[in-house]
Amino acid sequence: MVFFSAALVVSGCGQSESPGFRINLDGYDPAKVSQAQREAIGEAMEEFFGTPDVPRVPQELGLDAERIAVAAGPVEGRADGAQHGVYRQHCAVCHGISGDGAGALATTVDPYPRDFRLGVFKYTTTRAGAKPLRSDLRRILLRGIPSTGMPSYAQLADGELAALVEYVVYLSLRGETERYLVQRVVDEGEYLPLGADVKEEVFDEAAVWAAESWAAPEREPEDYAVVRPPRPEYTPPQRAASIERGKQLYASKNSQCVQCHGPNGDGDGENDLLYDDWNKPKIGVTPEETARLARLYRLPAQKLRARNFREGAFRGGGNPEDLYLRVYAGIKGTPMPAAGPQAGAGGVLTPEEIWDVVNYVLSLSGRY
Ligand code: HEC
Ligand code: HEC
Repeated sequence: MVFFSAALVVSGCGQSESPGFRINLDGYDPAKVSQAQREAIGEAMEEFFGTPDVPRVPQELGLDAERIAVAAGPVEGRADGAQHGVYRQHCAVCHGISGDGAGALATTVDPYPRDFRLGVFKYTTTRAGAKPLRSDLRRILLRGIPSTGMPSYAQLADGELAALVEYVVYLSLRGETERYLVQRVVDEGEYLPLGADVKEEVFDEAAVWAAESWAAPEREPEDYAVVRPPRPEYTPPQRAASIERGKQLYASKNSQCVQCHGPNGDGDGENDLLYDDWNKPKIGVTPEETARLARLYRLPAQKLRARNFREGAFRGGGNPEDLYLRVYAGIKGTPMPAAGPQAGAGGVLTPEEIWDVVNYVLSLSGRY
């Protein structure tokens, strides 16, 4: 039984009114969700995951409760010199207390801060559809995401970085569980009050399931990591030949790169109706429909642009190895497809061809 084995992480005693996690009703008409439903969802979620000041870390989810305690709660220095509340200190202004990506600064940046509750991360070393490794999240914190609002946190202590990574995983697990619970209660009209058996079922089917999807890539790298053959060493003529092959592959119908990135890699392809997965449901078939949908979300729809390679700003990192991962596995949560071989499917480009395309993209950016 899950709820008794939950470790209670006590972190500070905020005197002012404590912030709460906001229920995720994105996409729902508020008039169609009753007060009783909201309360049932809020209570069950608190039972599972606690509050922003006092998070609960159910043991079976494999989260590190100590790290979460450092990240959670109000900002405060402890007598032992340790800094607590580092998430609220550094991240909440953009990513929000609930990790919904709707913090105070959210509408000032394009793309929006990520909504961690969806559990989708763009820049990973794992294959398409898989969760990131914790080391992928750590790399993002160290580097930031160039040419977006996401800053680098390379100045933070190791322990703080580890705490923040763990807290992002916690918010993601929490968010994925909540989404499932909201569906059960609102869409499927689960009878209220929620019985212990229903709560346990929701916990197992959403939280435990999501926790497994985080654990699997760490446990079974052979199944989840993108295998990256070493980049060939090129003599200058070999390099020119690779760039030329990459140019052909880029322009080929099969690879589809031109459709989005344009014939010259300026990011001006014919396919310019691009959105992050989380913005897609906000787009209706008519402008009126889009305006109606906009009222059901905290943040209005935001378009996504395919990258202009000539600007030379690669968000997931500009090393050839980073670009290999992007082309091989695509960018999760976006229309940028995976070109490399996937489990059970050939893929449009071979590993050798991906290096050629990467060399071509780098040549356009002036980096190579
Ligand atoms: C000034 C606003 C801002 C602040 C502050 C900020 N972020 Fe972000 N963050 C962003 C934006 C914008 C994105 C989305 C970029 C994109 O989608 O390309 C993002 C994306 C991310 C991602 C997703 C990475 C991926 O691979 O998809 C993670 C993880 C993240 N931020 C963690 C944090 C953490 C942890 C903190 C605090 C230490 C933080 N951010 C502070 C704006 C911010
Ligand atoms: C359906 C549209 C689409 C197609 C097809 C497509 N891309 Fe993309 N690509 C995108 C979008 C959109 C982004 C930006 C994603 C973001 O910023 O979240 C992107 C980003 C990139 C990036 C930048 C990565 C970074 O870290 O900044 C590279 C490199 C890239 N694409 C290469 C390619 C190559 C090579 C092909 C063909 C094999 C290709 N793309 C096909 C839409 C597409």
